[in-house]
Amino acid sequence: MGAVKAIIPAAGLGTRLRPLTFTRPKPVLRVANEPIIRHAIKTLQDAGIEEIGVVVSDMTRDEIQHALRNIKSPAITLINQHEQLGLGHAVLVAREWVGDSDFCVYLGDNLFEFGAQPFIQHFTKDHPDALIALVEVADPTAFGVARMDGERIVQLVEKPKVPPSNLAVAGIYCFTPRIFDILAVLKPSERGEYEITDAIQALIESGAQVTGQKVQGWWKDTGRPVDLLDANRLLLERVVPEIKGEVINSRISGRVSIPASARVVNSKIVGPVLIGENVVIEDAYIGPFTSIGRDTSIRQAEVEHSVIDAETIIENLDTRLQDCLIGVRAQVRGGRKVPRTHKLTVSDASIIELA
Ligand code: UTP
Repeated sequence: MGAVKAIIPAAGLGTRLRPLTFTRPKPVLRVANEPIIRHAIKTLQDAGIEEIGVVVSDMTRDEIQHALRNIKSPAITLINQHEQLGLGHAVLVAREWVGDSDFCVYLGDNLFEFGAQPFIQHFTKDHPDALIALVEVADPTAFGVARMDGERIVQLVEKPKVPPSNLAVAGIYCFTPRIFDILAVLKPSERGEYEITDAIQALIESGAQVTGQKVQGWWKDTGRPVDLLDANRLLLERVVPEIKGEVINSRISGRVSIPASARVVNSKIVGPVLIGENVVIEDAYIGPFTSIGRDTSIRQAEVEHSVIDAETIIENLDTRLQDCLIGVRAQVRGGRKVPRTHKLTVSDASIIELA
């Protein structure tokens, strides 16, 4: 047994995040100005992981590779999952790469306030056959739910009508290679996917020791658009105030980070706010929990509680933008007064709410 490795399954289709995922895979969407997958890698690095296998699809490989360029450590290997047959299958395709090491599976779209370390530490100390992160939820019926006996998980039930507890499976699992023998013979579920919960249930039935560990602090799964805003908010709570850029005739309050290449003129910014490289803010108001990607300009507009990606233009708006997710190179312009018209170029399945 060598050091613990980590797998980040990142080959899913991200359908719940459409239309954002029509053009870019979920792991490269940014929250707090960083691709989601880079937050996962940082968390694993902080937990002492030195080797990470990222499971990608044929379609997403290049973009994920690009998002991970210039990471020197931990060492990252991309592993192809040619067909998206479910999380259990995503883990199985990494079998050869894992070899006979212990490993953890970290869902690339999950965020934990205290990261992966508490789980990996407990797993390495007690060394059960599997250790699963469990989170207390108000309504467990939409999750995999654990029946417990002390620390031990004695049964896992997927989306139970009558939940045996309020402890749902969260996005980090630690395993010994024993799980691979089970995954190799697993049958697909009714929805046609190889489910990791089915594999864990079979592991329990084979007499293996499977431990549950409760998540302390907040946990966020960024599966839906509203989750991206929440994740952004939670991460921006950690912004370290730093004003290096040019700030002219403006009021900055709260925790705001402005890099040297950014410029703020005649504006008001109330943190926490994270501003990217080469951003220009002019005659604008930027409210709490907003991240602004590099090379974006915001002029004569008000924006708060939003995720604004790189190279966007937002200008001449007479209403405030709130709870918005704006993709790379998008433009939101106002300024036409009378008569009031809307001139829109809108891609498939976009949602525009004109209040
Ligand atoms: P999800 O169930 O959240 O699926 O997968 P998804 O495809 O990302 O999103 P939706 O449900 O279509 O909106 C949990 C994690 O497992 C990965 C996903 O990339 C995600 O990080 N996954 C899932 C794979 O790598 N391969 C699969 O076959 C399925």
